Amino acid sequence: MCGIIGYIGKKQALPVLIKGLRRLEYRGYDSAGVAILETDQNKTVIKRIRAVGRIDNLADKIKDEKFVGHVGIAHTRWATHGGVTEENAHPHFGCDDRLAIVHNGIIENYREIKEMLGNSHTYKTETDTEILAHLIESYYQGDLRLAIEKALSFVRGTYALVAIHSDHPDMVVAARLGSPLVVGVNSVDDNDEYFVASDASPILAYTKKVIFLDDNEVLEISNGKMNTFNLKDEIVQKNIEEIEWDESEAQKQGFPHFMLKEIFDQPRVFVDAIRGRYDLKNGISFLGGLNMTEEEMHSINKIILIACGTASYAGMVGKYAFERLAEISTTVEVSSEFRYSDPIVDNKTLVFVLSQSGETADTLAALREAKRKGAFVRGIVNVIGSSIARETDGGTYIHAGPELAVASTKAYTNTVAVLLLYALQFGRLKRTSLVTGERMLKAMLEIPEKMSKILAQSDKIKAIALKYKDCKNMMFIGRGINYPVALEGALKLKEISYIHADAFPGGELKHGHIALLSEDFPIFAIMTKDQLYDKMRSNVEEIKARKAPIILIATEGDESAKNLSEDIIFVPETLELLEPLLNSVALQLFAYHTAVLLGRDVDRPRNLAKSVTVE
Ligand code: F6R
Repeated sequence: MCGIIGYIGKKQALPVLIKGLRRLEYRGYDSAGVAILETDQNKTVIKRIRAVGRIDNLADKIKDEKFVGHVGIAHTRWATHGGVTEENAHPHFGCDDRLAIVHNGIIENYREIKEMLGNSHTYKTETDTEILAHLIESYYQGDLRLAIEKALSFVRGTYALVAIHSDHPDMVVAARLGSPLVVGVNSVDDNDEYFVASDASPILAYTKKVIFLDDNEVLEISNGKMNTFNLKDEIVQKNIEEIEWDESEAQKQGFPHFMLKEIFDQPRVFVDAIRGRYDLKNGISFLGGLNMTEEEMHSINKIILIACGTASYAGMVGKYAFERLAEISTTVEVSSEFRYSDPIVDNKTLVFVLSQSGETADTLAALREAKRKGAFVRGIVNVIGSSIARETDGGTYIHAGPELAVASTKAYTNTVAVLLLYALQFGRLKRTSLVTGERMLKAMLEIPEKMSKILAQSDKIKAIALKYKDCKNMMFIGRGINYPVALEGALKLKEISYIHADAFPGGELKHGHIALLSEDFPIFAIMTKDQLYDKMRSNVEEIKARKAPIILIATEGDESAKNLSEDIIFVPETLELLEPLLNSVALQLFAYHTAVLLGRDVDRPRNLAKSVTVE
């Protein structure tokens, strides 16, 4: 989804902006652009260059240009209004090229604004953002911030907005409603420099000191000073916070792709997810962020897990854990459905909102709906200081570190880890015994080593991927707690390899899906040793009888699995509730190798964005 970076300081802005855009690439984009305030003989103009496609295209275009200036804004665009063209790429101007803005979000009432502005403005693009630029321009009477505040009070929709104006050679103004903006603050030789970005990744190379802009706030940086205002133009005090991640964490560390690095990160970051959050001796877990008294915890009679995509499949694993350990009825709701349904939620309902980015628009809206209805709402989020983290009344960071590949991997396993700890926390208050709690925690402590055993089979999994990479379809099946694992395996494969993949509970096959089976329709079956093993095995036998090729995930030592298939990934044995933590790693590697063998852009698959900040 669109990415923003702005700079104001003593450095040349262009290299900072281009480097920043590269850091934002992971969000997904289709075009990019940059605008700089350039002063020559006391005259300041805005110089702008935009290009369709990769940042490299933009860098190539800039190569032969003179771009000198210390203040600038840049943007990666993910098309919403208007096609992927250079004209539609940001930054956008008003009529007279003195104002430039970059914007992430959607201006819902842009048609109304256009009508209001009448014929006095000429538009060059099909974007909602350009209309906003013209609206600001129409209110401008020498004070850029005031013009922006006036314009925004008229806007319906969402925005992260950064603007520059050629009348103000030393000023950047930014505003936020619904789309994130982080401001990096750095002191160099007694001079302050500032970075304004969609997230911290382009800022970390310079500073870890940041402020997070909140909704309806407008920030003005001018002459080395930063002030934040609300839309009534009153000053708002902001705290400078320190970010924990360092820049090297955001690098590939020798892996060919971020996705592979992130898959291999899992044993390490899993430890970060559970560290300090359990007491083995008493078989309990305690996540302080839950922020509930024991009485309140006892009053909960329903849990709802809200999320999108991979995060929702992590939630489905959590459902099994909450119901089994705590006997609390739990449902998983896809955020985009929840927000438009009439959910039955009250003050005995606990809602967990799951999100890697913490910025997913549908999830954020669902969160607000759940809060409105009086539920306890807690976040399980990766990105520190993200909107969801800040809007929930408590919750837990999953500590997976920066996840830059579009396809989610380590955030999935760490979300499952945190959900398991929450389930145990509630479980120990209710029916789960000390012995069960202790056994579960011990098994969790063994997970990193067991994950490593699966990672060590990467080459073997690659060989299986080589055999199946040219298939057009693949079906994933699992039962019980491994059904969401099958769903996640299919999603991972389709999103990065573009092979059509679906997932079903094994028991559903004979209710229709089995009609698809043939010699060129492989089935990926998760057949680890859980309580539904025998049932799953029967399903695999049925598939074998129909001569469809079978790939299996089976438990180490299950020699009989070899009678069913020659393509087996053996995984170490663990408790049933923890199986998804291991089985998913095998599926991630399978999807990754298939995509690489097919020559796909693994870290940035087509049409996808890392952070889906529009509905
Ligand atoms: C799939 C994937 C997506 C995300 C989904 C939610 O690999 O990454 O399905 O899981 O868009 O994103 P977050 O977790 O950021 O809310």
